[in-house]
Amino acid sequence: MKMVLLLWIFSVISSVTLLSTCSLALSEDGLTLLEIMSTWNDSRNILTNWQATDESPCKWTGISCHPQDQRVTSINLPYMELGGIISPSIGKLSRLQRLALHQNSLHGIIPYEITNCTELRAIYLMANYLQGGIPADIGNLSHLTILDLSSNLLKGAIPSSIGRLTRLRHLNLSTNSFSGEIPDFGSLSTFGNNSFIGNSDLCGRQVHKPCRTSLGFPAVLPHAASDEAAVPPKRSSHYIKGLLIGVMSTMAITLLVLLIFLWICLVSKKERAAKKYTEVKKQVDQEASAKLITFHGDLPYPSCEIIEKLESLDEEDIVGSGGFGTVYRMVMNDCGTFAVKRIDRSREGSDQVFERELEILGSINHINLVNLRGYCRLPMSKLLIYDYLAMGSLDDFLHEHGQEERLLNWSARLRIALGSARGLAYLHHDCCPKIVHRDIKSSNILLDENLEPHVSDFGLAKLLVDEDAHVTTVVAGTFGYLAPEYLQSGIATEKSDVYSFGVLLLELVTGKRPTDPAFVKRGLNVVGWMNTLLRENRLEDVVDTRCKDTDMETLEVILEIATRCTDANLDDRPTMNQALQLLEQEVMSPCPSDFYESHSDYC
Ligand SMILES: Nc1ncnc2c1ncn2[C@@H]1O[C@H](COP(=O)(O)OP(=O)(O)O)[C@@H](O)[C@H]1O
Ligand SMILES: *[C@@H]1O[C@H](CO)[C@@H](O)[C@H](O)[C@H]1NC(C)=O
Ligand SMILES: *[C@@H]1O[C@H](CO)[C@@H](O)[C@H](O)[C@H]1NC(C)=O
Ligand SMILES: *[C@@H]1O[C@H](CO)[C@@H](O)[C@H](O)[C@H]1NC(C)=O
Ligand SMILES: *[C@@H]1O[C@H](CO)[C@@H](O)[C@H](O)[C@H]1NC(C)=O
Ligand SMILES: *[C@@H]1O[C@H](CO)[C@@H](O)[C@H](O)[C@H]1NC(C)=O
Ligand SMILES: [Mg+2]
Repeated sequence: MKMVLLLWIFSVISSVTLLSTCSLALSEDGLTLLEIMSTWNDSRNILTNWQATDESPCKWTGISCHPQDQRVTSINLPYMELGGIISPSIGKLSRLQRLALHQNSLHGIIPYEITNCTELRAIYLMANYLQGGIPADIGNLSHLTILDLSSNLLKGAIPSSIGRLTRLRHLNLSTNSFSGEIPDFGSLSTFGNNSFIGNSDLCGRQVHKPCRTSLGFPAVLPHAASDEAAVPPKRSSHYIKGLLIGVMSTMAITLLVLLIFLWICLVSKKERAAKKYTEVKKQVDQEASAKLITFHGDLPYPSCEIIEKLESLDEEDIVGSGGFGTVYRMVMNDCGTFAVKRIDRSREGSDQVFERELEILGSINHINLVNLRGYCRLPMSKLLIYDYLAMGSLDDFLHEHGQEERLLNWSARLRIALGSARGLAYLHHDCCPKIVHRDIKSSNILLDENLEPHVSDFGLAKLLVDEDAHVTTVVAGTFGYLAPEYLQSGIATEKSDVYSFGVLLLELVTGKRPTDPAFVKRGLNVVGWMNTLLRENRLEDVVDTRCKDTDMETLEVILEIATRCTDANLDDRPTMNQALQLLEQEVMSPCPSDFYESHSDYC
């Protein structure tokens, strides 16, 4: 007996020491990243959390890893003012899929070793000061979909091996000093002059410039020696560009500071209002059984006017109906407009409990959430009063056809994704008690005149649906959004909301409902369908073909975030705050001004 105990203690101790020695060492990829960092000049100190004492680099700024084996899949550090060179050590990151170092101040060459990263799908190195040529074996990167080297100081011939990249969808070699004939074969034949702008010594069919012939043969002319002359003017154009970016970003920052100031003013005003927030309970005399509760204290109408309006709602005012009831438009005497939801069914239970829970929902106030303004119990019905969102639901926008001029363009879609994430992250992380939405779908994302999204119906499902009857009450439209574990157990968590948000992202990208026949026919849901296409690297087949201005870079990021949100394992999904952070960091950064300056929201 003693022997067994001793053995047991020994094995525990040894496993503990084993574990601790394991956890002390930084992974191979982590060490490689530190080598890469050592050749960078991080003047803004953004890489301070790249610490040799960590176990894994996966939480370091700009790094993402494969969820299973923790190998580094993505380096994402654009606009970070990084100086220095790209270390040849990069070749050791053999699982790297995405290298985004654009808009920095990197110089030196593109290391030949990069061709060792055979899983690379996207290389973004535009707007640096990179010199030398393109590694000749770049054509070995058979997964490469995006190659953007524009606005550098690169020179030499364009390697014909690029033509072997059958998956290449985006190529930009503009504003460099490349020279010679552009090989006209394979994928290289599919790109037009836009991919080669500003390389005055390039010739070939793609740039509509025949190559000079000597003795009747087409000549390939890599002007190695004469290139130096072309460099100084490039530098000056870079300088002017830098200056321009500088001026623009100062302007943007000033604007931002102003906006933040305004916002703070607004918030403090709101807070003062909230102090007064006494849920004004008004028993109306002449309607003994009518009860009106207003929240925020900001439904500034006499109760009798509200009740009168509510009672006179009829068929003509209906704007839609859903799982819980019918929604009406209510216009007050001063033309203030509200949406009124008449609840058809509700959970058994006391009115007091129901009303107390409503008060919690009514106290929530966020720019990306639909305000609940009040609640009214009439003898025959229960009515919820909400802000009215003039542009209706995202569902209508994406799926109501025949209104071509209402098609959302890519940057409007991104803004909707971002705003929705903000609203949801607020519910999950900033509300007390925290609120699980439970019914995230495109018809619950409502848009105002500026197409800013407002999430509606949060927490309502919990209030109105019996816990044990959950799946049977799921309306058909909601089905495709639900996380597998929620369908199975009926227990909604923040992580099941994150899943639904991932599906919403996919809906924004594909323009297809999650229950689209295209998926169902193949026995897949939208998540399975996307994963199949991504495995085959058919990025462009995922996109809503009606949305012409999709850019590959953000598309790729959105799909990555959607993939993570819809992970079958809920522990591998990000939290809503993390999802929001990913969106903000990768989509908006670092030029929010560009992002918000889109002139039109339609295609
Ligand atoms: N606050 C609102 N402002 C404007 N339209 C609304 C509002 N709330 C709901 N609607 C419209 O009414 C429809 C029905 O809403 P709802 O009953 O919540 O069902 P669902 O969300 O399942 O579509 C929505 O699709 C939307 O078009
Ligand atoms: C790093 O960058 C800063 C500012 O950009 C510069 O002053 C400094 O000389 C650079 N250091 C090195 C080692 O390049
Ligand atoms: C290339 O990748 C392999 C692993 O796939 C690694 O062992 C090797 O060191 C790498 N070569 C270079 C030059 O980085
Ligand atoms: C690229 O592929 C060619 C032929 O398949 C091979 O000879 C060459 O060594 C490869 N280069 C690298 C860096 O893997
Ligand atoms: C690029 O090609 C298009 C036709 O494909 C042509 O109209 C345009 O003028 C060209 N632009 C330049 C800069 O050569
Ligand atoms: C390539 O980049 C330049 C500017 O750097 C841009 O003007 C051009 O439109 C881009 N071409 C493509 C095909 O995206
Ligand atoms: Mg709704």
